[in-house]
Amino acid sequence: MADKSATLTIDGNEYQLPITDGTLGQSVIDVAALQEAGYWSYDPGFKVTAPVESKITFINGGKGELLHRGYPIDQLANNAEYLEVAYALINGELPNSEQKEDFFKKIRQHSAVHDQLRKFFEGFRRDAHPMAIMVGVVGALSAFYHEGLDISNENDRELTAIRLIAKMPTLAAMSYKYSQGEPFMYPRKDFSYAENFLYMMFATPGDTDYKVNPIIADAMDKIFTLHADHEQNASTSTVRLAGSTGANPYACIAAGIAALWGPSHGGANEAVLEMLDEIGSVENVPEFMEKVKSREVKLMGFGHRVYKNFDPRAQVLKKASDEVLEALGIDDPKLELAMALEKIALEDPFFIERNLYPNVDFYSGIILKAIGIPTSMFTVIFSLARTSGWISHWLEMHSTPFKIGRPRQLYTGETKRDFVQLEDRK
Ligand code: CMC
Repeated sequence: MADKSATLTIDGNEYQLPITDGTLGQSVIDVAALQEAGYWSYDPGFKVTAPVESKITFINGGKGELLHRGYPIDQLANNAEYLEVAYALINGELPNSEQKEDFFKKIRQHSAVHDQLRKFFEGFRRDAHPMAIMVGVVGALSAFYHEGLDISNENDRELTAIRLIAKMPTLAAMSYKYSQGEPFMYPRKDFSYAENFLYMMFATPGDTDYKVNPIIADAMDKIFTLHADHEQNASTSTVRLAGSTGANPYACIAAGIAALWGPSHGGANEAVLEMLDEIGSVENVPEFMEKVKSREVKLMGFGHRVYKNFDPRAQVLKKASDEVLEALGIDDPKLELAMALEKIALEDPFFIERNLYPNVDFYSGIILKAIGIPTSMFTVIFSLARTSGWISHWLEMHSTPFKIGRPRQLYTGETKRDFVQLEDRK
């Protein structure tokens, strides 16, 4: 029960709005009394609206802090595997060795997809964007797992989470293989989660002794961990909103993938590379910066709605990107250009005054490019990683009472009630 409240006076009437404190971070004002007052709250972009209570992830944007189930993100990224982080997101704690073995085994068991799903891929043009394919094929999973799936049953919900996390790398790699006209690779049970994804992406059926470079597998796993969850962002909110209707969970995740695709959200890592293509070379950076300042374009991979000092995920990835570039001895002019851009932007008053720093997508774009992942797959990889976060939020919602998400609006359209009766127009 809240022991603080705010007083709202409207039309001479006073309303007490209870204030509730979380364990950390911002307190919230419960505005339900507005209904009684005959008003709605108005907050485009949900800048100050908390539609849910959650125990999964905490972000302090000012301090650049990100915690999953209370664990700091840098510690998770440097000391735990992505699948352990996924387990923690779902279950609240990192697994002990027995739980880890059991969870990893279940993920391996469910990593293959139904053979009939191949036909869905064949329905797409070869040049279809892999995110378009992902929206389709993940949504199609709901056709495979609908009858018999009881979302009020905890075991069914858990199985859904396992299936999704297990199948996403397989589907993601299939979407790439399809665009290349190469045969799909079946998942292998002797590889780690990240190795398996890289194997399904880059191996071909003749590669019987295919080995994954451990530096690349480690960087890939870090990218997965750093994208695993980010509290109530646009795609997670989409999954929750779709889930609040009781919709099939695979369809809800497909909705999350659709929301993630946009360049203001997960599509930014791809947009970073497109921007580097547009700039071309280091000499063109000053001219491009002028366009940014005159608001003709945005510097993709910079800025964040929540982080206004630094993005803690970007810090881990910057170190990883330095290691990958050095270990692989990559000498790519585009990566050199990215570094020049980062340096100039970090020193320029326009960016300093607006607290614009490189975000996770800036460095993940650089690493993915360095390890040979095609640009069009960047957001697909984000969606693969974010699936553990999305499904954790869906699970959290379904394990407590919830209401259908149904926002209100401020109507500013016309009123033609007295203009003409429709039947008079005949
Ligand atoms: N380049 C140039 N100016 C920018 C940028 C940018 N990337 N981002 C913000 N600004 C300016 C903006 O024009 C505004 O300036 P002014 O006050 O003079 O009008 C000021 O900074 C505040 O920006 P805002 O639009 O109020 O910030 P927001 O919180 O609404 O937007 C954002 C956040 C991430 C959508 C935005 O920074 C952006 O579009 N960045 C580029 C896209 C990107 O990298 N997105 C990935 C986000 S990280 C992945 C994820 O978590 O989804």
